Amino acid sequence: PSSSSSSSSSPSPLSSSTLSPTVVPSIREVPGSYGAPLLGVALDKLNYFVVQGRDEFFYSLMRRYQSTVVRVNMPPGPPFFPDSRAIMLLDHKSIRVLFDTSKVEKRDVFAGTYMPSTDFTGGFRMLPYLDPSEPKHASLKGFCFDILRSSAPRFLPEFHTAFREAADEWDAQLLAKGEASYTAGCQNFVLCFLCRSMIEIDPSAPGPASLAEQGPSLIQAWTALQLVPQTSLGLPTPIEVLLQTFPVPYTLVSNQYNKIYQFFFTNAQHVLDIAEQKYGLDREEACHNLLFLICFNTWGGMQLLMPSIVRRIDSAGVSFQRELARDVRSAVGEDGRLTMAALERMKLVKSTVYEVLRMDPPVPFQYGRAKEDLIVESHDASYRIRKGELLGGYQKIAMRDPKAFQFPDTFMPRRFMGPDAERLLQNVTWSNGPETEDPTLNNKQCAGKDFVNMLARMFIAELYLRYDFFKLGPISGSGPTAQYKFKVLQRRRDGSS
Ligand code: HEM
Repeated sequence: PSSSSSSSSSPSPLSSSTLSPTVVPSIREVPGSYGAPLLGVALDKLNYFVVQGRDEFFYSLMRRYQSTVVRVNMPPGPPFFPDSRAIMLLDHKSIRVLFDTSKVEKRDVFAGTYMPSTDFTGGFRMLPYLDPSEPKHASLKGFCFDILRSSAPRFLPEFHTAFREAADEWDAQLLAKGEASYTAGCQNFVLCFLCRSMIEIDPSAPGPASLAEQGPSLIQAWTALQLVPQTSLGLPTPIEVLLQTFPVPYTLVSNQYNKIYQFFFTNAQHVLDIAEQKYGLDREEACHNLLFLICFNTWGGMQLLMPSIVRRIDSAGVSFQRELARDVRSAVGEDGRLTMAALERMKLVKSTVYEVLRMDPPVPFQYGRAKEDLIVESHDASYRIRKGELLGGYQKIAMRDPKAFQFPDTFMPRRFMGPDAERLLQNVTWSNGPETEDPTLNNKQCAGKDFVNMLARMFIAELYLRYDFFKLGPISGSGPTAQYKFKVLQRRRDGSS
């Protein structure tokens, strides 16, 4: 596609279902420029990572072109990575085209403008990289739904146990050192919870394939190398620049990955039986997918979400925490037990989780390639998109669209409690689809959408069943490697914990 900054043209001769039947807005070419070859990529990368930072990079484009749909290079880009040209969708209306798999192809776009080598995943393309038109998409997603369904009875008890172990450790660290590592605690307890509930084994259980205490660091090394070309990990700038310029070979983490794979292949035979017998999947391919699902999608996603939860709650003050505690405790009833029904009754907890996901979508970008010539509508204009062009959505700005949410940059934990909640939830789209819709075998919405909400609610509930409030200390580092610490964890004073 040619770069263009033209702004308008006459009403369109094109017809498209994305146009409303009553209003025919003028059709624009998408504004923006990819710049000169290589130089444009380098300049956009410099602004994105160093000079402006991610959010200001997009806001400045929106101001410059007076448009929420813009052309720009998305990292990492040539010469050593593929074509970086993308059309970015930065409002809650235009981003919706990405959820419509009849309009966009989702093949190999999970990570963005490039795809990490399949060496990282045993030579197989993992489920998130498959388009629903590929036959394996339905069998692998069905397998994923099956794992969630069959593990469901273990979620509450295993979460309770894993949380209690982490909290005992936090309490001990606070007593000994005056601070406790929230980050390390979450890394361990989420992995323990996932392995115990989904494959019924402890990651550090003794045995030839045991991950011992190394699980989180092994997974981190493997995921970081796949993400670093387009995400700042908070490493020193020269190292990041290098990693964002040349693809890093898998061999650097092959030992780590093999260890994780052996753990799953040895211990999840009963789950792989289901993959083979019920879904006709190859055992090895199923095992790489199981590993990806637990370690990349879920563990990785939760390591991004868990810090946001405590940071947002901490910033809302202690009196808000007292309200959360009341919401939790009045829902569990006399015996203090957490049940699914009790979680459902926690209206403030639920709304708080939606609001955290709205403000800090853990996976901020989604992409799709136009299957045909399209018209995409924003609030202000309609844009001509050509077949084959790469569309990208930046959830963080789209979910702060002032046309969708009042005071969009303010954390308002009660936002989803009013009569308007259902309408507002249609614009909460962190899962690659509206919160009011469900993942299916035919769409590309996150298979774990409801599970993620449940995990976040269970965490807040367990927190306030044990503590009255917490306070965080200063956060060191940035991005996914930031370290969060508790400075205060006030045990419950009413004697019920
Ligand atoms: C896809 C986010 C946790 C399984 C996705 C997508 C997003 C997402 C944005 C769409 C990607 C795209 O279209 O490019 C997250 C976040 C999570 C999380 C932020 C945690 C905080 C989970 C969990 C599971 C899961 C818990 C399952 C147990 C999947 C699968 C896909 C997917 C299988 C691919 C769906 C498909 O191919 O149709 N996730 N996810 N995710 N997610 Fe999640």
